[in-house]
This record gives sequence, C-alpha cells and structure tokens, in this order.
Amino acid sequence: MLYLNNDTVNDLVDTQEAIDLMEKVMVAYEEGNYIMPKRLRISRSNHNYLYMPYISEEVCGSKMQTIYPDNKKLGLPAIYGMVMLNDTKTGKIDCLLDGEAITSMRAAAVSAVGVKYTTPETIESVGVIGASLLAFYQLVFTCKVRSNIKHIYIYDLYPDAALELKKYLETEIVKYKELEYLKDLSIQICSEPIDLVASSDLVITTTYSTTPVIPDNPDLFKNKHFIGVGSYRPDMREFPDALFTQVKQAYTDVYYAKEETGDLIDPIDSGILAQDDVYTLGNVIRKLVPPVDTSKATFYKIVGMAMFDIELANYLYHKALDKKVGQHLVE
Ligand SMILES: NC(=O)c1ccc[n+]([C@@H]2O[C@H](COP(=O)([O-])OP(=O)(O)OC[C@H]3O[C@@H](n4cnc5c(N)ncnc54)[C@H](O)[C@@H]3O)[C@@H](O)[C@H]2O)c1
Repeated sequence: MLYLNNDTVNDLVDTQEAIDLMEKVMVAYEEGNYIMPKRLRISRSNHNYLYMPYISEEVCGSKMQTIYPDNKKLGLPAIYGMVMLNDTKTGKIDCLLDGEAITSMRAAAVSAVGVKYTTPETIESVGVIGASLLAFYQLVFTCKVRSNIKHIYIYDLYPDAALELKKYLETEIVKYKELEYLKDLSIQICSEPIDLVASSDLVITTTYSTTPVIPDNPDLFKNKHFIGVGSYRPDMREFPDALFTQVKQAYTDVYYAKEETGDLIDPIDSGILAQDDVYTLGNVIRKLVPPVDTSKATFYKIVGMAMFDIELANYLYHKALDKKVGQHLVE
C-alpha cells in the first residue's frame, strides 16, 4: 500500500494536467457510468464530518474529511482528510493520500475550469476574499488559465491572514520554477471587500461565512465575474441578493449544489433565481445548454464531489508509481 503525504501530492500535481482532468470528469459526471451516493455529512455544533465514496469501471475509492472552522484560532488547518484508493477487482487498498492538498488543488482545478468557461480571456485582475491555502491554489490555478492577469487582490477579516497569504505567494513564486508565470504580478491587500470587488474583474470567495461577504449593492456586481468556493451548507452564504440583479443564470459543478449551499438555496427560495437557470458546467462543456455570456456578470458556485477527489487521487497514484515516489506501508 502506497502512502502519499501532502508534500508528495504537491510535487506530483501538474496544474494544467489537473485542470484538464477535472474538465474530463465534469463530462463523465454527466454521462453517469459510476456509482456515487450523495455525500454523508454529519455535524455536531460547528464540527463537520464528510464521507464520500465513488466507484466506476476503472477507479474506486472514498474520501473522508473533517471541517472544524474554529481550528484557525488554534493555528491549525480547518480541514483534515484522507483519500483511500482501492483495487477495483479485489477491493485491496492500493493507496492512501493525505486529503488536505488534494482538496485544495481539486477545488482550484474545478474553479479553473469555471474560469475558462465563465470569464472572458481578457480579464486582468483577480481578487480572493478569505486568505488561506485554499485561496493560494485558487490564485495559482486561475492565473494558469488567464494569462492576461496582472493584479491579485486579497481581503480577509483578519489582516494578518491576508499578509501571510501575500508573503506565502511571494515566497512560493521565487521557490518554484513552475510558478514563474506569476512572477510579474502585483499583489495587493485590500482593507475592505468593497475595494477588492471594485478592483477585480474576477472575485473568488473562500470563506466559511454564514452571511454575505460582499455588501448588498447591485452596482458592485455589474459586468464582474464571481466564483463561490466556501459555502457548502444551507446555512452558509457568501453572496448577497444583489448578485442576482446582475446574473440570470448560475453555473455549478454538481446538481446537488442547489440543495447544499445557501448561495443557491436562498435565492431560489426567494424567487430571484429560477431553478431552471442553474446549469452544470459539464453541460456547458458538452454544449447541451446555451453558451455562457461572458460579456456580462457571471456566477459559478462549486461545492465539490467524491468523483473529483478520487479521480485526482487516482491520477496522482499512477504518477507516483511511474516516478517511484511515496512511502510503501507494510501490509
Ligand atoms: N467548494 C469546495 O470544493 C471546497 C473545497 C475546500 C474547502 N471549501 C470550503 O471553503 C471554506 C474555507 O476553507 P479553508 O480551509 O480555506 O478555511 P480557513 O479557515 O483556512 O480559511 C478561511 C479564511 O476565510 C476568512 N474569513 C472568514 N469569514 C470571512 C469574511 N466574512 N470575510 C473575509 N474573510 C473571511 C478567515 O479569516 C480565514 O482566513 C470552508 O467552508 C470549506 O469547507 C470548499
């Protein structure tokens, strides 16, 4: 049994390959040749446990994850997780992968497919609200698909977190040759979300907020592009009603996003977004729904699914075997 820790996962992932893989998975998701039950979430106060199995003809595995938002106060990551890959013929455990880096990179690659389909190629600036490792990968993957981006903006409730992300980006860009494409970008910290939105063509939210992180002002949303990553429960919401004065359609990674996140449930319930105007990106890619009008404001909401994580884990497992990296655990 092979074990791949976060560092090995990081070293193995090629940004473009991960984005291309997630795009293929979105199409496979629509085709339906797999078994993936609705993910099981159990919560006790603010402590959340998610269990996510997935089986297809070639790949089989599960992801287990905890989300403890208050860990930040202890200086710990909010998310811990593990992905298990099994042999499809025998069920034997082939590989265990640390879930932290996989989750952040998978989310960034799934977002990047959204950037490709819901924003124009000409965008020059991207802002993140919520400064964490998750936001770091969002920026790295976004800039991979939009080479005209020259400016990065960061806002966090805690200015220290924003500063930490800025410094981390600057250090990583110098350290890793494959991040060279980010080296000429300006990185600025904003003191208010309103300043970040005003400066950014694309805004990505990566918080655990239960109330909108952007003021409820329609003017802020005109002709801008938004990707919501943070909210994954009905009581969580990052975007205000004003967004839906500017967007008529919303795009998602999975169908059940409409049942999982307050960012879609609330506007659908209040009638400012029609159920039928929520499309999956897989159907955009397959050209089964009208193409996205990127000349106007757009909204793409991702919540994630086992299929993304397990398929990414399977890609990493085979890469690790080829490169002979990872730790063999005694069986
Ligand atoms: N959609 C997906 O596929 C996906 C994947 C991974 C994580 N997530 C979700 O993303 C969220 C963030 O996860 P994380 O691991 O980055 O958490 P984290 O605690 O490491 O970071 C979140 C950051 O957001 C900041 N923040 C919180 N409320 C804010 C607000 N109102 N305005 C500005 N900043 C605010 C916090 O200060 C913190 O720095 C969680 O809800 C998590 O479940 C979603």
